[in-house]
Amino acid sequence: MAPPTQHETRRSRREGGAVSRPLPTRRELRERGSADAHHGPAEQPAPAVYRRRRLVAGVLALVLVGGAALAVGGVVSGMTTEAPERTDAVAALIGDARADAPRATVLPAPAQSGQAAAAVEPDAARGEPAPADLCGDPAVSEALASGSDADVIAAAGGAEPFRVAVASGAAPCIDLHAAGRTWVVVNKLNALDPIDYWPEPQARAEGVERTSGGHMRADVAAALSQLVGAARAEGAGEIGVNSGFRSYDRQVSTYRSYVGQLGQRNADLTSARPGHSEHQTGLAVDIVACDAGCGTIERFGGMAQSEWVTANAHRFGFIVRYGDGDTAITGYEYEPWHLRFIGIDLATRYAEGGYRTLEDFFGLPAAPEYAG
Ligand code: DAL
Ligand code: ZN
Repeated sequence: MAPPTQHETRRSRREGGAVSRPLPTRRELRERGSADAHHGPAEQPAPAVYRRRRLVAGVLALVLVGGAALAVGGVVSGMTTEAPERTDAVAALIGDARADAPRATVLPAPAQSGQAAAAVEPDAARGEPAPADLCGDPAVSEALASGSDADVIAAAGGAEPFRVAVASGAAPCIDLHAAGRTWVVVNKLNALDPIDYWPEPQARAEGVERTSGGHMRADVAAALSQLVGAARAEGAGEIGVNSGFRSYDRQVSTYRSYVGQLGQRNADLTSARPGHSEHQTGLAVDIVACDAGCGTIERFGGMAQSEWVTANAHRFGFIVRYGDGDTAITGYEYEPWHLRFIGIDLATRYAEGGYRTLEDFFGLPAAPEYAG
């Protein structure tokens, strides 16, 4: 892909005060959720008198247990000091606790405004790898200047080192607001820059049915052809394109139409305002099932094609961008039909890591509402 233009590499208008009030991060939302799950008042520290009593009781218990142990030790020969055997029940408990632990414990702290302003120290105790100095690496700089996005990720050492460096704020040269990059994040807090961005070259996905113009970025079209062919070959049925690239002007009319039908509040849950739609990047495509003629996007969820796409889209570089139950992060209701291309490396890491939103993946604040 061509290197980003001056417009693309310029920090977006987020720095012009787009964030007017603090929004909950994914981690804060998780913490609130888990706090809400605990009924009853929060545990209070014990008064000093009780703490002293507990101390005295503890010391007495130690003396008694120690004496008993010495007595037993005198009559039992060959006793070792091995830790108690871990029973299946204990192992199950430990395993469950690990499985239930929120993923936030292994994620870098979210950035505070669009992209992190300052690096967040990794926490080795939480298993976070130290972010690499991507921007000081000549191979990354060279790939950024003249290579593809995949070249940049490869120079960074792969998708996970890339993600960790970006999410921790240690890679300011990776601009999450560069509209021409596969890693761009477009949401209610991050408008496209320039606002009338127009991706080129564009193409239609070969061998794929469509119910509209169906253009998208050429690399995305090629990836979608592969996805549709694989879905067909693997028995999921036929998939077609309902909507691909939408220009700023087209989004004006699309959004206006939703507002006319649903009112602004509900329209904002399903249609992006102009300049805030991933469709304008050429990286997004709405798909439909086309078994006996193509259906509508609203009927896509629950169909065999939808199930298959949810499980396999990452193999072709796509993610289902607006997941079920993620409205507090994405700002949109579940859209099983809206695929977003981020490239095979990042999409595979996204799927394997169990991420549900791009905001979470890159440590960005939740974007449920527009700033103004
Ligand atoms: N439906 C998505 C949010 C869009 O309009 O871009
Ligand atoms: Zn869409």
